[in-house]
Amino acid sequence: MSILQIEINQTNQVSKLNMSISKLNDVTPEMIQRYNRPGPRYTSYPTVPIWDKGHFHEEYIQCLQEESIKDRPISLYVHLPFCRQLCTFCGCNKFITSNRKITDDYLSALCKEIEEIARIMRSRKKLAQIHLGGGTPTFFNHEQLEGFINKITSRFELQENSELAFEADPRVTNLDHLETLYKLGFRRVSFGVQDLNSDVQMAINRNQTSRQSWDTINNSRSIGYTSINLDLVYGLPLQTYQGFCKTLNEVGEMRPDRLAIYSFAYLPGMFKTHKKAIKEKDLPVPEEKIKIYLETIRFFTELGYVMIGMDHYALPEDELTLALKKRTLHRNFMGYTTLHNMAQIGVGVSAISDFGGSYWQNDKDLHQYINEAYNKTLNPHRRIKLDKEDQLRREVIETLMCHGEISIPDFENRYKISFRDHFNNAWLDLEKFAEEGLVQLDSKKITLTPVGALFTRNIVMPFDRYLKESSSISFSKTV
Ligand SMILES: C[S@@+](CC[C@H](N)C(=O)[O-])C[C@H]1O[C@@H](n2cnc3c(N)ncnc32)[C@H](O)[C@@H]1O
Ligand code: SF4
Repeated sequence: MSILQIEINQTNQVSKLNMSISKLNDVTPEMIQRYNRPGPRYTSYPTVPIWDKGHFHEEYIQCLQEESIKDRPISLYVHLPFCRQLCTFCGCNKFITSNRKITDDYLSALCKEIEEIARIMRSRKKLAQIHLGGGTPTFFNHEQLEGFINKITSRFELQENSELAFEADPRVTNLDHLETLYKLGFRRVSFGVQDLNSDVQMAINRNQTSRQSWDTINNSRSIGYTSINLDLVYGLPLQTYQGFCKTLNEVGEMRPDRLAIYSFAYLPGMFKTHKKAIKEKDLPVPEEKIKIYLETIRFFTELGYVMIGMDHYALPEDELTLALKKRTLHRNFMGYTTLHNMAQIGVGVSAISDFGGSYWQNDKDLHQYINEAYNKTLNPHRRIKLDKEDQLRREVIETLMCHGEISIPDFENRYKISFRDHFNNAWLDLEKFAEEGLVQLDSKKITLTPVGALFTRNIVMPFDRYLKESSSISFSKTV
């Protein structure tokens, strides 16, 4: 074990989670029953369902203008929503199509959106990050992607050491994609794997041989990609503890730099495909899901990975691990990140932005988005301005989700509040969590215990002042 690993293991979060492996017996069936309820994943706070709906064209433009003179770079998120085939478990904003006209129109609309943002910001800003998310960015061929990236870099200069990343489905990603994006400066890639078991794959309509995953990973490595992430999902239909252990073993051999291992967000009230194609009786029961979750922690920590927040893992030398150690880890709608203090600008259908003291979301309707963007009408359809109280709560939630603890004096000094008085109601809930052994409370610190770490979402929920207003159909169950 390297010195770094030993140091990291000494940080609270990591040792706490390692301990949690031996604490399965402390998770009682009553606890599972009580806490397994719909709850947000808090990739943003306030959460999207309570953002205002409307047309925010003028406000958005004004904020872009104001942002353009600030001395900080842009993190650009590009949503490329198309996929060839529907995975029935999917909860992303995606469109399944083979209609070339729509996908070409979409790329043209995206280019117009970028041109318009650059015009308003007078191309003053530099890009510190480009993230192509989906859907499946490699749905487009390498020439289309190249043309599009060149459009971005003709309007905005890339900052030195900028981080370029894309999401890709191994089933549709070929050597041309990998080589072209590498030449354009992309060094990070994230592949969806989900589960290697063929029964589970059949149940989610996603046949992906392990050969396809291995080949794409090996090709990426030989081209020179320096960071490979794999996504897995636990809690899928027909998944069992034993079956998932096999997937873990093979994925361990693939040795990605990072892993995101998501809990299946089952939302039959929101997604027709979940309702139609996924039978509730096929889902593993919560006890089995927790067993899988704990085994996943045990398995990857034993292989030397460090658990990052609720659902990510990274090798000890990875930037996410270093950020966890240095307390510079952050969480946004793309997950855990080391980047901070940037204007996050999202382009494309349903894309989210975070700058100017507000969150913004583009229209989720594909045709509406294409029409508006093509005519250079920047028109987010959702927006929320964060007041001081939102900012404070956002920071409490983010800190607990990233680090599993909060220093109370830090918040009191910065926000000039008495933490306990200010969060009077939340504190009462925390006291109940403390009685059950989920948190430790004292005047200086809130610390999640090993068992509490399993229920992180529940523990931060009392800090969400809008929870009662948000409809529970928007959120998956917390276990
Ligand atoms: C945009 S996809 C990744 C790229 C590509 N489309 C693919 O599937 O390979 C993002 C990831 O979100 C995760 N995901 C999608 N739907 C989910 C759900 N309902 N619950 C949990 N995770 C989900 C999957 O792990 C998926 O790989
Ligand atoms: S999981 Fe990926 S490939 Fe499957 S439908 Fe969702 S976005 Fe598309």
